[in-house]
Amino acid sequence: MTNNIIKYQALIDGELYENGKWISIINPTTNKTIGEVPALTKVEIEKVYTAAKQSQKSWEQMPILKRITFLNSWKQLIIRDKLIIAQLMTNEIAKATKAACSEIDRTIEYIDYTLQEALRLHPQSYTGESWGIMNKLGIFEYVPKGIVLAISPFNYPVNLSVSKIFPALVTGNSVVFKPATQGSLSGLHLAKLAKEAKLPNGVFNAVSGKGSAIGDSLVENEVINVISFTGSATVGNHISQKSLKADLILELGGKDPAIVLDDADLEDTATKIIKGAFSYSGQRCTAIKRVLVQKAISSKLISILKAKVEKLSIGLPIDNCDITPVIDQPTIVNAKKLIKDALDKGAKCLIGNKFKENLMWPTIIIDVTTKMDLAWEEPFAPLLPIIIFEQVSEAIKIANDSQYGLQASIFTTNINSAMTIASLLEAGSININDQSQRGPDHFPFIGIKDSGLGVQGIRSSLLAFTRPKGIIINWKTKN
Ligand code: NAP
Ligand code: G3P
Repeated sequence: MTNNIIKYQALIDGELYENGKWISIINPTTNKTIGEVPALTKVEIEKVYTAAKQSQKSWEQMPILKRITFLNSWKQLIIRDKLIIAQLMTNEIAKATKAACSEIDRTIEYIDYTLQEALRLHPQSYTGESWGIMNKLGIFEYVPKGIVLAISPFNYPVNLSVSKIFPALVTGNSVVFKPATQGSLSGLHLAKLAKEAKLPNGVFNAVSGKGSAIGDSLVENEVINVISFTGSATVGNHISQKSLKADLILELGGKDPAIVLDDADLEDTATKIIKGAFSYSGQRCTAIKRVLVQKAISSKLISILKAKVEKLSIGLPIDNCDITPVIDQPTIVNAKKLIKDALDKGAKCLIGNKFKENLMWPTIIIDVTTKMDLAWEEPFAPLLPIIIFEQVSEAIKIANDSQYGLQASIFTTNINSAMTIASLLEAGSININDQSQRGPDHFPFIGIKDSGLGVQGIRSSLLAFTRPKGIIINWKTKN
């Protein structure tokens, strides 16, 4: 560490690696450089895949209980370094330290459940008899697909990295891991712990470098069997065009609507909308990013929401404030652009629209219509538009007209209304009387349309990183 700048190395074929070229990691709260990570090159990326390929078969052939021993050792080191990692997260992504600790706790639970679930990935057996063919038995076991490229986003640098890495490794794949640059101090700390846990060389590799610089070299390698990507729709769509024959699991952006009917419990609804919209300053893919409220109760809901936003603490992540700085200035610029467009087209600012460097006050814009960009675009900031509707059919149309289809919420006390609307919404999951959210983590997690491809969630991830391999036994009946 030099003058408080912490340097991390990549992990290639079991060795911590640096090449003299560094990327500075800036603290979004102070705008000061807090760390440096290697800027790998195309040639070095090639070496990473060679290591991943050379190590994969022996890792696959290792008994699963032995693989689990290595992964549990790694988990124990993550637990040991919890506060160090939480501090890295606070400094590099401005996540409140308490929330960073919760993310790590959640990740440990994720690992435990994953390792147990992997043991239940039993082979499936089929008899030929049900197809009229006697004396034929098919046993289909789940075998690893091979090499997994795991690319994670900045906002959950531990949980959304481990949620790819551990299911891939426990099923016998080798992994090439690319953390988000803002998130790579935490990501490369995990890699350092993997080395300390003595994972066999090449089984787990961690690279660093701007996605815009090394992304195509990472993605276009023909040895990759699965690309598991979490991030923006823009990058996800780019990756899907660049990837060669790899299977894709893409968890992308969202514009999750909260539909509030006139019979909803408004106090409970407002509490959940505030949490869903403003946790981690709205930088969650599953954040509530638009409220569609029925006209009859719109004024009442809006006043409750305003009162709750006024109680949110705004400031430093180290003080565990509710609203902390967003990841970077482009996010602020984009939020300001969306607000201006809405106000120019007749919307009104209920609260917020105030900024200080990367800190954005929680903002609610009312009288938003579908003619405004804010109704459709993902700000990834503490910015919530309120759209009023009269007929439920209007709300369903507005919800479904989005390019995204991650999740949705319906707030009502009438289960018939909830189930009827849910059946018509185009989304991966619909939450009735709760905020949209990825957890609990063993639930399947799906995005459709521009929100993703494939399914995550613990069992779904284990299945996504494996394929059936059949052994069919034939015999003759002895008379
Ligand atoms: P991002 O800008 O798309 O980056 C995601 C990851 O992709 C980062 O590791 C990034 O590396 C890398 N990357 C960038 N360009 C690449 C390229 N050409 N090839 C390969 N990799 C490339 O997303 P983010 O800013 O980290 O996260 C915010 C976005 O992700 C939002 O849209 C949010 O909705 C979405 N998200 C979705 C989920 C979900 O589960 N559906 C979860 C979290 C976030 P660099 O950091 O070096 O650029
Ligand atoms: O954006 C990250 C996504 O995975 C959301 O997770 O648990 O905050 O809904 P969660």
